[in-house]
Amino acid sequence: MVDVKELIKKMTLREKLGQMTQLDGFYFSESSAVTGPISEMNISEDDILLLGSVLGTTGASQTTRIQKRHMEKSRLAIPLLFMADVIHGYRTIFPIPLALGCTWDPELVEQAMAAAAKEASVAGVHVNFSPMVDMVRDPRWGRVMETTGEDPYLNSLFAKAFVKAYQGSSYDVPYTLAACVKHFAGYGGAEAGRDYNTVELSNYTLRDQYLPAYKAAVDAGCDMVMTSFNTLDGVPSTANTWLLREVLRNEWGFNGVVISDWGAVKEIIAHGVAEDGKEAVLKSITAGTNIEMMTSTYLNWGEKLVEEGLLDEALIDEAVERILELKVKLGLFENPYRYADTEKEKEIILCKEHRELAYETAVQSLVLLKNDDDILPLDAANKKIALIGPFAESRSILGGWSCEGRDEEAVSIKEGLEAILPADSLFIAKGCDIEEGTDQDIADAVRLAEKCDVIIAALGEHAGMSGEAGSRAFLTLPGRQQELLDALYSTGKKVIVVLFNGRPLDLRPIVEHSAAVLEAWFPGTEGGNAIASVLLGKKAPSGRLTMSFPYTVGQIPVYYNHLNTGRPKLVDTIENRFCSAFLDIPNKPLFPFGYGLTYTTFEYADIKLDNNMLTPDSVIRVSAVVKNTGSRAGVETVQLYIRDITGSRSRPVKELKGFERIELQPGEARKVTFDITEDMLKFTRLDGKFDSEAGRFTAMIGPNAEDTLSVDFILDK
Ligand code: BGC
Repeated sequence: MVDVKELIKKMTLREKLGQMTQLDGFYFSESSAVTGPISEMNISEDDILLLGSVLGTTGASQTTRIQKRHMEKSRLAIPLLFMADVIHGYRTIFPIPLALGCTWDPELVEQAMAAAAKEASVAGVHVNFSPMVDMVRDPRWGRVMETTGEDPYLNSLFAKAFVKAYQGSSYDVPYTLAACVKHFAGYGGAEAGRDYNTVELSNYTLRDQYLPAYKAAVDAGCDMVMTSFNTLDGVPSTANTWLLREVLRNEWGFNGVVISDWGAVKEIIAHGVAEDGKEAVLKSITAGTNIEMMTSTYLNWGEKLVEEGLLDEALIDEAVERILELKVKLGLFENPYRYADTEKEKEIILCKEHRELAYETAVQSLVLLKNDDDILPLDAANKKIALIGPFAESRSILGGWSCEGRDEEAVSIKEGLEAILPADSLFIAKGCDIEEGTDQDIADAVRLAEKCDVIIAALGEHAGMSGEAGSRAFLTLPGRQQELLDALYSTGKKVIVVLFNGRPLDLRPIVEHSAAVLEAWFPGTEGGNAIASVLLGKKAPSGRLTMSFPYTVGQIPVYYNHLNTGRPKLVDTIENRFCSAFLDIPNKPLFPFGYGLTYTTFEYADIKLDNNMLTPDSVIRVSAVVKNTGSRAGVETVQLYIRDITGSRSRPVKELKGFERIELQPGEARKVTFDITEDMLKFTRLDGKFDSEAGRFTAMIGPNAEDTLSVDFILDK
C-alpha cells in the first residue's frame, strides 16, 4: 500500500502542481503537432510527464498506451487518472438525463447507469464527470437536458442513484468508477437561461432548492466534485472559499477531490475577481480547488506564489494528498490500467443486456402529453400510416453528451415502426429538415399524407440545440417544422406528434391541433423501438414530467414549488387585475411538474390522515384511494406534496415529499399511504437553522403538482 504522505515528501513542488493539472488526451500523444499547444500553455514537454490526470480519452487501447508510457517515463511513476463525461451511457446510449428523470424510477436508472459504468470502465475510464445535478427552472438553458429536472427532492434521489451506480458499494466491486458530481453550485440558475451567465440567488433558495441534490451525492459517498462556471454572491465557484470550504468540507464533511470546470480557474480573471493568472491560482487553491481542468495556471504560477510566500505549500500538499488518496482508493498503484481491457470491450460494450436496458429506460421515459379520443395506442390494422418529419428516418436521436455513442447504432422511429407494423403500411416523407426546408418538400409530404389514414409527425430540435452553450430564446419548433405541421393539419387527418428535444418546448400550437403528442426527448440507442412499442400499444407510456412546460417563453421561469406572493392569483382568469399575474397569459404552465398520461385513466378519492397531529418523534400517515377507471392496466405515479402554511420565511406552495409508482388493473382500486415525519418539514429558517417550525401544514396527493386532493395537519413541538 502506498503511503501518500511519504510519497508527497519525495515530490518536487512542480510535480505536485502537475498532479493538480488536467489536460486532454491530445497532450499525451507522441505526435509533433502537440508541441505548439504545449508551448501556448507555457509549459514544457517534460511537464506532461508530471500531470496527474487525462480528460476525455477513452478506449482500452488508448488509455492503456498513454498509461504505460507515463508509468515508464515519469520519475515517480504515479498513475494517471482518466476522466470522461459518461453522462447517459458510454456507447450504449440511454435517454438523456432529463428523460431519465421522467421515469420517476431511480432504481431502473441506477441499473442503466451501472451498465454505462461497466462499458466505460473496460474502456479505461476511472472517473465519470457525472452526475450533473444542477436544479433547473429555465428551459432556455440548453443544459436542462443533462439534469433530472426542477425538483430538489427528486433530483436528490437520482443523484444518489447515479453515485451508487458508478461507485458501487466499494471500488472492489468490478467495473466501478468514481463519480464526480457537478456543477457546484447553482449553475442551473443562469439568468435568462443564457449559458455561463450570472447567477443571482438568495441564500435561502440556494440552500433549500439548489444545494440538496449536490449534498445527496456527497452523502452517497461521491468522491469528486466539479465547480461551476458561475459566480455566487459575486464570487466564482472555483474561487469560492465559503462554498468549497465552509459548506462542502466543513458542513457536509466532503473528503474527496474538487476539480474546476473546463478553464474555470483562468476565467476568474474574466469574472473580474483576479487581476491575472497568479491571483487566480492563489484564489482557487486557497478556496480548495484541487485540480485545474484544461488550463495551466497552476503550473505557470504555483511555484512563484510559494517562493514569494503568498501561498502556503501546505495548501498544495492538501490538494495533492486528496488526489493521490483517490488513486490509492481506486487501486491504481497496484494496477494502473484497472478494468481497461480490449477483450472485455468487445464482450460488454453494446451487449444485448445493455441494449435491453436502453430500451426499457427509453420506454419509461416517454411522456404522453395529449391523447384525444384515445387515438393512441394506434390501431394500425388495415391502415396506411404516414410518417413525416425530419426525425422520421433519423438515427440522430442520442442527444448531447453521448460519449462514444454512434448514430449508426441507434434505431430510428421508422425502423422501430417497421419492426412491428405489417409490410407496406408505412409511408415516409421528410417534409423538411430541422432548421430549413423547401416548399416542394412540404408539398410532397402533404400529398403523401393525403393518401394515408393517419399521420405521425416526428419533429424537434437537433442535439446541438441543447447541451452546453445550447441556449435558445425561442422554444418553438425550429425552421419550417411548424409550417409543415400546419400543412399536415389542413389535410383533416389526425396528427400524432412525436417530439425529439432536449428541453421543455413551447408546445401550445402543437397541442391545440394534434390528436396526440408524445414527448420522446432524445431517447438513445433503442429510441425507435421504444417509441414504436408505445405508439402501437406493446407498452403503455408511464413517464411523468420533471420540469414544467411553459405556456409561452414569457412565463419563464415557471416551476411548481414557487412562493405564494402577497397577491396570489387564485383563479386563472384575468378579471382580478391587481394580483401577481400576466394580462395576456395564465399563470399555470401548459403542462405541470409530475404530469403525464397513459392508456388508462385514474381517479383519486378519499384523502385521509390517520392522525392530524404530528410531533417530532411520531409518524402520521396520509392516504388516498386511487382507482383505475379505464379499460387497460396501467402504471400511475402517485405523488405526495406538502405545504408549510406559515413560517418564519415564506414557504413554497407545495413541495414533493414522496411518490409511489403503482400498477392497477382495470377497475382495481388501491389505498396508497405515505408516512409524514417532522424531518420532511425542515427548511432553512430565518434564524439560519435547518429545522422545522410548529404550525399548520397541508398534505396533498395527486397525479401531478396541480391536480391534488388535500388535507391539513398540525406540527406540534
Ligand atoms: C463542462 C463539464 C464537463 C467538462 C469536461 C465542460 O465544458 O461544463 O460539464 O464535464 O467540460 O468535458
